[in-house]
Amino acid sequence: MSRELHLAGFLIASHVTHSHAAWRHPASETDYLGPDYYRRVARTLERGKFDFLFWADLLATPVRYGNDIRVPLSSGTQASATIDPALVAASLVHATEKLGLAITKSTTYFHPYEVARIFGTLDHLSRGRAGWNVVTSLNQAEAQNFGIDDHLGHDERYERAHEFLEVAYKLWDSWERDALVQDKTSGRFADPDKVRTVDHDGTWFRSRGPLTVPHSPQSRPVIIQAGSSPIGKDFAARWAEAIFEIDPTKEGRRAYYDDVKSRASNFGRNPDELLIFPSFVPFVGETESIAREKQAYHNELADPISGLITLSVHTDHDFSQYDLDAPIEDVVVPGTQGLFDVARRLSVRDDLTLRDIGKLYAQGVLLPQFVGTAEQIADQIEEGFRGGEADGYILSAAQAPGTFHDFVDYVVPELQRRGLFRTDYTGSTLRDHLGLSAASLKPVARKQGVGV
Ligand SMILES: Cc1cc2nc3c(=O)[nH]c(=O)nc-3n(C[C@H](O)[C@H](O)[C@H](O)COP(=O)(O)O)c2cc1C
Repeated sequence: MSRELHLAGFLIASHVTHSHAAWRHPASETDYLGPDYYRRVARTLERGKFDFLFWADLLATPVRYGNDIRVPLSSGTQASATIDPALVAASLVHATEKLGLAITKSTTYFHPYEVARIFGTLDHLSRGRAGWNVVTSLNQAEAQNFGIDDHLGHDERYERAHEFLEVAYKLWDSWERDALVQDKTSGRFADPDKVRTVDHDGTWFRSRGPLTVPHSPQSRPVIIQAGSSPIGKDFAARWAEAIFEIDPTKEGRRAYYDDVKSRASNFGRNPDELLIFPSFVPFVGETESIAREKQAYHNELADPISGLITLSVHTDHDFSQYDLDAPIEDVVVPGTQGLFDVARRLSVRDDLTLRDIGKLYAQGVLLPQFVGTAEQIADQIEEGFRGGEADGYILSAAQAPGTFHDFVDYVVPELQRRGLFRTDYTGSTLRDHLGLSAASLKPVARKQGVGV
């Protein structure tokens, strides 16, 4: 079969996602605290035959910029109001039939037993459509919400994440697929020879097992990741089946693609089983000039300070201390290093000030904007897909659910007409949609000497 494009939708269970202007956009719906909003987005994406809907998650109100929560709250900065994505995803299992439901859970603030249980449950309830975005969390405020004074160091967080996944895999394997017997006549419920304790006793975690949740339809959720530092990319190369990426430049996306695929090969994996999803914000118009007007209108609503607040949250570094009209400082940040490197690269290449970077961050956290008619946007997608930058794309909205409607109504048919994208689902699980084989279910051994 020819290689097939994959598509996903990006949300936070919140009033905004990457675009900090989204909540202010007149076309945006604001009932993100209720179930109908998510139902509308999910059904639209399922109508468009998307692979999955995804929720990012942050565990603290933004406070890193100037140690202040007043400005982020009054300007509606990313993460100033969010609800729990696991429960939102669970609320959609009846509203959808095929669409994958992928949520974020941190390996830094939870215990593997709890997380393995959540994903086992979601996989059962959705009949095999669960995905887990494995994150190591970003900043000190999140640590403090969980009663910890100091956020773990960047590389230590990844150390912990490796062991976290090792324990979670053992727990998901603690029930064999056919362990449940449920024979009412004989009174035999489960075969105890097919359910094992895990007796994990490691550096970070102890867990006895077995999981209380029987073997789930996909055996475990599809593993997603978004590490962008070298150690983060090695983590993804070992564990992830899908990886999200933010890079506004074609060259950056191509380099990232090659880098991550070769890291996966170094771990002995088939690089085709690690799908790379760059993200973008689409602006679709009947004509290119209509699309450009939509883009300009949206971008004008973005507030640079709100963007710098989020940059400070993502990098765990306070950017309020610098001159807004000077180039961005070259500092070492404890939060996400990869995104900061992208910001620095852009600032040097285009001679941008800190305020300019704040504006770009508020427009969409440095995501590229794909602007034009359905044909022009399909051209960009096709070029990236065939040109070695993507296996699929993850879309983030400038206003929701409108951005998703426009894309599904205009761009998806064009992608289908070109034979790039499915016209219907051929399987029922998220692993089916992503074309992942049973081999990708097996954990890969840890490599020594490569920082992971
Ligand atoms: C596209 C993208 C999406 C991310 N989503 C989240 C998220 O929802 N929650 C979170 O805590 N971290 C998120 N992260 C952070 C990473 O998963 C990772 O833990 C962090 O970036 C630190 O690793 P790094 O320096 O390797 O990037 C995201 C990063 C990227 C690039």
